[in-house]
Amino acid sequence: MVKKWILKAVVQKTISFMPFNHRINYFFQKYVTKGVYLSEEYFYDRLGHARDHLNAYTRRSNEAAPNTCLEIGTGWYPIVPISFFLAGADRIYSVDISFLTSKNRLLTTLIMLEACYSKGLLSYYYQVDPDRMQKVKELIANIKTMTLEEVLEELHILYLIEDARKLSLKDDSIDLINSNNTFEHIYPKTLIPILKEFKRIVKKQGGVMSHFIDMSDHFAHFDKTINIYNFLQYSDIEWMSIDNSIQPQNRLRLYDYKKIYADLNIPINQETYRAGDLEALQTIELDLKFSTHDLNEVAISHCHLVSY
Ligand SMILES: C[S@@+](CC[C@H](N)C(=O)[O-])C[C@H]1O[C@@H](n2cnc3c(N)ncnc32)[C@H](O)[C@@H]1O
Repeated sequence: MVKKWILKAVVQKTISFMPFNHRINYFFQKYVTKGVYLSEEYFYDRLGHARDHLNAYTRRSNEAAPNTCLEIGTGWYPIVPISFFLAGADRIYSVDISFLTSKNRLLTTLIMLEACYSKGLLSYYYQVDPDRMQKVKELIANIKTMTLEEVLEELHILYLIEDARKLSLKDDSIDLINSNNTFEHIYPKTLIPILKEFKRIVKKQGGVMSHFIDMSDHFAHFDKTINIYNFLQYSDIEWMSIDNSIQPQNRLRLYDYKKIYADLNIPINQETYRAGDLEALQTIELDLKFSTHDLNEVAISHCHLVSY
């Protein structure tokens, strides 16, 4: 029988050639792979990311919250941007290639944040401004009468659906740039100019960049018959025929990101990573591109890189 991940790869590849492909993919994920539901696990994982970004910023600047923030690749549920609002940020930019949120998804996020606050759990992640939480409660109550743009404005969030290689933002203007599970979807040809652009806009004094990268094979999140290193068996040419433009995976390892940062002269001041599972890696017949590296390094599956 054909494996589930192969079917998904084929369907996503087909969808990637269609007009409105992100919208079609949303329905595919919603009704077939059930990947768009906002689970508690996902919610709390991203709250943890918001906490770690804010802590990285505070360690550097001694300020409790950044004034201006930017997230690249927010996706369907803006948990991190709204967290920055709750922590007191004044202007929060969300840069993406397509506008993936909606009033419903925004409402779901607000309700989960409010419930988390009411249970007394949110303050374990970051310090919540009570006036901002009051605003969230009002938005939940009034959202039916508001447009999506009005809700976002109240949350100080501005979506920039533009090329992140050429942002419409001034030099030296952003306190905290962050991303969550996004870099792994951007090939170096695009990622390198994006990082150069981030270097331009991040504040030279006290500015911070903080990026979480998930280097596991995302097909393994959906098909439990393969492991998170499955995609490392393919050569670049083979991978090109499997990968798709809706949710591409660049397969870069931590050592590749570190080389990109070093070449761009972007320091890494804090680096944390998940070591991964060497035993699982050794079950895969690695392509030469990976097998010639130290396998302990190839096995690293997630990382968090902070620069200032
Ligand atoms: C897997 S989603 C991550 C969503 C969310 N940040 C999370 O933590 O789950 C990747 C996001 O990156 C965005 N993205 C991919 N390539 C991009 C690019 N070149 N510029 C801006 N956003 C990009 C996608 O549209 C999507 O929103």
